[in-house]
Amino acid sequence: MDLREELPGDRQDVREVHLRAFGDHGLVVAGLVDSLRDMVTAENGLSLVAEQDGRVVGHVMFTRSLLDAPRRLVDVRVLGPLGVRPEFHERGVGSALVRHGLGILAEREVPLVFVEGDPGYYSRFGFAPGGGLGFRKPSLRIPDGAFQVIGLPAYEPWMTGTLVYAEPFWRHDAVGLRDPDA
Ligand SMILES: CC(C)(COP(=O)(O)OP(=O)(O)OC[C@H]1O[C@@H](n2cnc3c(N)ncnc32)[C@H](O)[C@@H]1OP(=O)(O)O)[C@@H](O)C(=O)NCCC(=O)NCCS
Repeated sequence: MDLREELPGDRQDVREVHLRAFGDHGLVVAGLVDSLRDMVTAENGLSLVAEQDGRVVGHVMFTRSLLDAPRRLVDVRVLGPLGVRPEFHERGVGSALVRHGLGILAEREVPLVFVEGDPGYYSRFGFAPGGGLGFRKPSLRIPDGAFQVIGLPAYEPWMTGTLVYAEPFWRHDAVGLRDPDA
């Protein structure tokens, strides 16, 4: 398996990964990825694909959001979406994408990476619930356990506060859980 940065020609394959991986939510996720891609530049953000036999089988994005810390706004990254084609699940593709991405972001001196997801999956990479570490989630609709963060070497203890998601997450209504009965 090869891990590499997404290239312009991967766009349709990446959409296909998320359409397959996320089932009923696939269209929302694929739309979110297309919007977040506009934020990925050499300095900001990271979009990685996993390739097997020349075929894109997994994809992850790390995009820029803000931490509203007491001292100043801090550039952080949000992991997601992460998707792997179902027929390639349980082969370490997702883990390889996450670990590779965190390694690159550590080298780029990004201090913190946040994720909204299942702690049963993300805790293996060192993510921990953000609420217990001085961080506030960007929406009350995110379950406490799902709001997770990992500190990289550039992290300093004064970096606490509220995570402010980049605008595309709101535009695609891709934050937290909706309650149709509320
Ligand atoms: C989550 C996902 C990216 C994992 O990719 P993967 O390549 O199958 O994962 P890996 O092979 O690296 O890891 C497999 C391990 O993760 C566990 N796992 C997979 N999905 C999980 C989940 N949602 N919650 C908890 N554990 C999960 C597996 O049980 C397995 O555990 P083990 O190592 O103890 O046996 C993939 O299942 C996927 O694309 N799911 C649909 C999209 C999605 O939910 N994305 C994440 C959004 S937060």
